[in-house]
Amino acid sequence: MGVVVVAAGSGTRLGADRPKAFVELVGVTILERSLRGVLAALPDEVVVVVPPTHVDETSALVEHLGESGSRISVVAGGAERTDSVSAGLAELSEGIRWVLVHDAARCLTPVAVFERVLAALRAGVVGAIPGVPVVDTIKVVDTGGVITETPLRETLRAVQTPQGFDREVLTAAHAAGAAATDDAALVEALGHDVLVVKGDHRALKVTTPEDLVRAERLLSELP
Ligand code: CTP
Ligand code: MG
Repeated sequence: MGVVVVAAGSGTRLGADRPKAFVELVGVTILERSLRGVLAALPDEVVVVVPPTHVDETSALVEHLGESGSRISVVAGGAERTDSVSAGLAELSEGIRWVLVHDAARCLTPVAVFERVLAALRAGVVGAIPGVPVVDTIKVVDTGGVITETPLRETLRAVQTPQGFDREVLTAAHAAGAAATDDAALVEALGHDVLVVKGDHRALKVTTPEDLVRAERLLSELP
């Protein structure tokens, strides 16, 4: 199993003085915390995708994480998240059958989430992603803000990463190249079934300064 960790975003909404993955959360960068979580899932291979300006710094970091038994490489990402995922996929070794794509920004994701995604792939699905029930009622609106639809809340899931796929299917989905906010949508567009497995509230995506505070609090609650 290979993991593509996407960390090449600029973190506009966080508004720090550096790309989000390089911001510290209680003394350790978001990227390093993510990578430690990923390595706990014992992948054969990890590709870390970072801004072009941070390739050298990240190469030094992964050397220091080195004795994990996983092959770790670092590549530069692109303008959009999908470009960064594509850059990571291109770097994976030939023999990799399953790939998990993970947002570095979800740096507190428990290893059990990786394991549930992987277990679903091993059981034969083409794609599996973690999700949690939504608490709010979600509305679909038109460009004028008028509600056009109210989906049944019980049918909705807020989805997270790691999102896992058959490697060839995900590569084909990226080559087909529509715009999407997650990888599952690209695979769905090809007509494949993607299973939602149980996510975890700790897999939150650090997006705003408030999320950083939430993540700090979660960290203080961990053993
Ligand atoms: N990402 C990436 N390459 C991009 C954009 C995003 O690798 N061109 C990664 C981010 O580093 C992050 C994940 O995709 O780990 C989810 O994206 P998001 O939370 O939106 O991060 P940013 O794009 O950095 O934040 P913002 O949208 O606030 O600028
Ligand atoms: Mg973004």
